[in-house]
Amino acid sequence: MNTLRHLTLAVSLSCATLTSPLAHAGEVEVLHWWTSGGEARAVDTLKQMMQKQGDSWKDFAVAGGAGEAAMTVLKTRAVSGNPPSAAQLKGPDIQEWAEMGFLDDLNDIAEAGGWNDFLPTRVAETMQYDGDYVAVPAGIHRINWLWINPEVFKKAGATPPTNLDEFFAVADKLKAAGVVPIAHGGQNWQDGTIFETLVMAIMGPEGYDKVFVQNDEDAIRSEEMVKVFETFKRIKGYVDPNAAGRDWNLATAMVIEGKAGMQIMGDWAKAEFAAAGKKPGVDYQCVVFPGTESDFIYNIDSLTIFKIKNEANQKAQENLVRTVIDKPFQEVFNLNKGSIPVRTDIALDKFDDCAKQSSRDFQAADKAGRAEPSMAHSMANTSYIQGAIFDVVTNFFNDASADPKKATEQLVAAIQAAQ
Ligand code: BGC
Repeated sequence: MNTLRHLTLAVSLSCATLTSPLAHAGEVEVLHWWTSGGEARAVDTLKQMMQKQGDSWKDFAVAGGAGEAAMTVLKTRAVSGNPPSAAQLKGPDIQEWAEMGFLDDLNDIAEAGGWNDFLPTRVAETMQYDGDYVAVPAGIHRINWLWINPEVFKKAGATPPTNLDEFFAVADKLKAAGVVPIAHGGQNWQDGTIFETLVMAIMGPEGYDKVFVQNDEDAIRSEEMVKVFETFKRIKGYVDPNAAGRDWNLATAMVIEGKAGMQIMGDWAKAEFAAAGKKPGVDYQCVVFPGTESDFIYNIDSLTIFKIKNEANQKAQENLVRTVIDKPFQEVFNLNKGSIPVRTDIALDKFDDCAKQSSRDFQAADKAGRAEPSMAHSMANTSYIQGAIFDVVTNFFNDASADPKKATEQLVAAIQAAQ
């Protein structure tokens, strides 16, 4: 090879290096709480996509379902002037962090990517502060599901319940068959997850909205709310004595292993079944929680970008945002996570029947005014109000002599004090 050709080759090689993503390689440090088997598989898809583009991934995982521990760690890091470059944030927390000036505005990326064309209005609004995009949505979870082990049901002579009376009749059958009827972990957010599902079943979407979104005193101090607490107390009778402190995925494992018959949990539970090699409709069933068939308690996962100075890392942040909203990630992440894509322009061929139903039900509920944000998953109120609700709900659940009427009054008082 002559010298000129050598030179040309060298120049073109270095140009190739310059234009490859590696030339811009930066690092993203991502705070999240996706640490269970299924969750880890899902977040790994993002890590791999980022690495393929040449950016490096610094994992900042803080274990603890629903993210309470993660939020505490995030506050500490942010207060000390060293926030991670990206963090999983949800609902009104997004607006709070934006108001404090921590979050980068994503409008340029959103505009270039045409986000408004494919995001449902409800999702788009949740991602915005003052009309500006400040979060990128990853997927939509549904809370009001019941996860069933069909083998256990068959042995107990039970069929999936379609109303609350049937639900308790099934629980009795499971108990008589010697299995734990309801797999549960006694943690405030898991108690809250069941509680809000009962509010939906008993008070309907309008009542749910008044209680959790509007914090309407009359709706909280109502006969229906007393019935919610009474029903919640009945549930306790079907939970095993070792539930205290148990992580949600260990409760799901009880259903997977046939030690328990059912679990009330959002569809991240599906990711645990999938990670264990179980097939929907065969090894497990997803059934909408009885009495909430037309309703959808939603929980949107999203990532926010914190303001940082390093330019290469800023590029990596932008890459992260674009990757999360792009179709390939939306598909593979949600397939692994148990949720559904946030985009309306993604075919669901590869998704299972639970996801297809979730998608259909979300659209229908959204149109009919029956889609409501999850209180237990930080979609409905600030963490102060959520914490106040959790305290009343969890204390009630753990106190065998607690009175449903008194609990209703306590809920009114706690929410008022937190406002
Ligand atoms: C999050 C889910 C997560 C679940 C359990 C929810 O609040 O939105 O992504 O899988 O908590 O950790």
